[in-house]
Amino acid sequence: MSLDYRRLGSTGTRVSELCFGTWRFGRETDGVVETTKSEAHELLDAFVERGGNFIDTANVYGTPSGRSERWIGDWLAGRDRSEVVLASKVYFGFDPDNPNGSGLSRTHVRNQIEGTLDRLGTDYLDLYYIHRWDEETPIEETLSTLDRLVEEGKVNYLGASTMAAWQLTKALWKSEVHEWERFEVTQPLFHAGYYEDVSEYLDVCGDQGLAVCPYSPLAGGFLTGKYERADPDDPERVIAPDGSRGSMDDQFGDYYLSERGWQVLDAVREVADEVDAAPAQVALRWLMDYPDATVIPIVGARTTGQLDENLGAADVQLSVGQWDRIYEARYDGEGRRWGHRD
Ligand SMILES: NC(=O)c1ccc[n+]([C@@H]2O[C@H](COP(=O)([O-])OP(=O)(O)OC[C@H]3O[C@@H](n4cnc5c(N)ncnc54)[C@H](OP(=O)(O)O)[C@@H]3O)[C@@H](O)[C@H]2O)c1
Repeated sequence: MSLDYRRLGSTGTRVSELCFGTWRFGRETDGVVETTKSEAHELLDAFVERGGNFIDTANVYGTPSGRSERWIGDWLAGRDRSEVVLASKVYFGFDPDNPNGSGLSRTHVRNQIEGTLDRLGTDYLDLYYIHRWDEETPIEETLSTLDRLVEEGKVNYLGASTMAAWQLTKALWKSEVHEWERFEVTQPLFHAGYYEDVSEYLDVCGDQGLAVCPYSPLAGGFLTGKYERADPDDPERVIAPDGSRGSMDDQFGDYYLSERGWQVLDAVREVADEVDAAPAQVALRWLMDYPDATVIPIVGARTTGQLDENLGAADVQLSVGQWDRIYEARYDGEGRRWGHRD
């Protein structure tokens, strides 16, 4: 099994059909490091060995912030930089004591790109995302700053994570009017069982030829099928395997679980049986086959066994009927979204 490559939206750059996410590298929960440095390097080695070249991080990943970037930098030091397409992000607070220590102001973005490049041990990023929309900084200030970073060769492409369809549209419009580099890649929370409807956002991406890189594509592990329902009246309560994210992270239920998720998981499991694949592979394949936009899920994994299973999505084939069945499981008999939150 080896990964294929896809063009990163409308850019000329080719990335593996799955990206590897490094959010949990060096992250401490109750004093326990979820993924240690040696495990992180083993995972990166395994990903690259299987043809992966697209790696996602952020300035604030790890405990303390910056640890994920630093560990990737140490790993990269022994490799050919040009063989990796490296993405990082800016927005969240890096230094709580600095009044300019968060957001998308020119000051913060300028400060953060230097730290990110330093920790990663590189003089350029392939892709720089804004991690969130900043309500307090005019988008023109952010976009003009990012445009200069591209001009200076510090960043090749721009990306945008987690925002409303209107915000993405506004940013694209501002870039076009001012002839600035535009966001070429988006990173929404999106998986088959997600309780929100992101179809309008995806329509913008499809129309504008933007790459879509969904984060938490397995709903933090829920769509692997390893969780069982703990309460028929409360979809956010699970029986979680020891040591899993759901057993450690208080926000797991709130982030990832809904009635819709359980309905979709049933359909994912059923299709997985039919195609002799793991539910995780079917859930990822469903995203990769999403019509009308280039979708490149950012998979997470804590072990090389999990990573191998997830990368196996590249070899799974879903019929149109199977894909539709998972899509339709998102709606109840009357066409309403299951478990939709107002
Ligand atoms: N832009 C943003 O705001 C944002 C937010 C979140 C994430 N991200 C990016 O997206 C990446 C992926 O997010 P994520 O980690 O939430 O993704 P995910 O793929 O939904 O969840 C990954 C977790 O699920 C479990 N898992 C994965 N594969 C498995 C398998 N085959 N069998 C059993 N369990 C499995 C593992 O956790 P356990 O073993 O602990 O159960 C793993 O850490 C992050 O690393 C980050 O780069 C971005």
